[in-house]
Amino acid sequence: MAPKNTLLKTYLPPIIVILGVSGDLAKRKVLPALYHLLKDGLLPPQTLIIGTSRNDIKSDQIISDLELCIIGENKSCDPTVLKKFKSIFKVIKFDPNDTKSFFNLKQTLNNYETKHKTCFNRFFYLSVPPNVVQPIVKKLGIVNLNSKCSHDKANSFLLMEKPFGSDLDSAKALIKETARFFEEDQIYRIDHYLAKESAQNILTFRKNNPIFEDLWSNKYISKITISALEKLGIEQRVNFYEHTGALRDLIQSHLIQLLSLVTMKVPDNLDDSSLIHKHKLKLLKSVNEVSLFDIKNNLVAGQYKGYLQEVHNPNSKTETYIKIKLTINSKEWHNVPIYLETGKSLNVKQTEIKIYFISPNDTKQQNILSFRIQPNEGIDIVLNVKEPGLNPKIVPVNMDFSYKNNFIEPNHPDAYERVLIDAIRGDSSLFASSEDVLQSWRIIEPILKYWEKNDKNLKIYPKSAKLPIK
Ligand code: BG6
Repeated sequence: MAPKNTLLKTYLPPIIVILGVSGDLAKRKVLPALYHLLKDGLLPPQTLIIGTSRNDIKSDQIISDLELCIIGENKSCDPTVLKKFKSIFKVIKFDPNDTKSFFNLKQTLNNYETKHKTCFNRFFYLSVPPNVVQPIVKKLGIVNLNSKCSHDKANSFLLMEKPFGSDLDSAKALIKETARFFEEDQIYRIDHYLAKESAQNILTFRKNNPIFEDLWSNKYISKITISALEKLGIEQRVNFYEHTGALRDLIQSHLIQLLSLVTMKVPDNLDDSSLIHKHKLKLLKSVNEVSLFDIKNNLVAGQYKGYLQEVHNPNSKTETYIKIKLTINSKEWHNVPIYLETGKSLNVKQTEIKIYFISPNDTKQQNILSFRIQPNEGIDIVLNVKEPGLNPKIVPVNMDFSYKNNFIEPNHPDAYERVLIDAIRGDSSLFASSEDVLQSWRIIEPILKYWEKNDKNLKIYPKSAKLPIK
């Protein structure tokens, strides 16, 4: 592997425009990721970061928020790196409803490129509420901020955050509108779960451990569970969450993507991103739409106590917890139930995939393979062994691989750092395609339709609740 500080030297320098720089996502994820990349020498020389905000906010304010955020994560904040960050960071006042703001932004970018006598790759990171995404994309197009540079090497790219639309129809409309101005290869649809190191390891693990290859189907697997449980509530994201809810926020995106990594055919070449996309899409197409039977019998939706007060809406029916059952229409996965579960304000922060192997004789003696996506990233398998001594008792034990115990340098780039690096170097493997997005909406669409006409039957659970929610 090339030394870190030379890794990105060969890529065109980027200008990263963060639209919505004073928002929660920019503060908690995007800016800290850029800070860490800068610290590790992973940003190409001459990188420029521009934040846009409706408010007259100064870059000093953003930098001190950034410092607090890094310290809040118990990470050290290096004053020299912060100073350097400040020197490549600029904030401009920007009204996304006003075309003039887009012209001003264009002028700022042109001036910087003229000063450096070259074109840069321009990245527009849409760190904004879902309802303003489409109008922004349109205005970027209208003022020609979607175009290639004159010497044809540099290009303009969109970095878009999920949810892409709010149902199948709106996703189709968003994709169609975006395609009017940007080619598919100019669009990076971020699903930061795919960029988590432990999620990337799923395909690698499956490909490089032949003992599991023949076991990977309904012949030996009885059930799969995929869960993303969070301790945090909705924090300050009232507006976003009220319009989104747990099904759209995590199931439609992150968890269905994880499901595809576990159940898709493993491509012969994991370096070929088009092959990965092809196999993933094939799998997604074979996932059945949730059936009415499973909506009525195998779906649990809940809301944590205190949510109504947080969102100042006593009538809110937004779910903060959901569990659903999915099935796959293929020879390999017929009859294997797959449960996806996610919730906020629970007693644990944990994302995990569990594969339950069939145990023909005794269900208590099941072998379970777990991919621990976070925390304590790793893989373990439950085996059954004889308890030592005269007692012939069989007990389950864990064979455990953990990143932190096995690698000297467990500090791999975090998911947002990886997303940004990959976009800068033009690797689209870890991003969702427009077709992936449409397939995931198709799968859960019956639930959305059912909820339009029927009560969600929300279970109200206490904060820091222990599973199961009933
Ligand atoms: C985001 C969701 O995509 O993922 C949030 O919008 C959620 O609601 C977050 O909290 C969880 O991400 P992570 O990486 O902390 O598990």
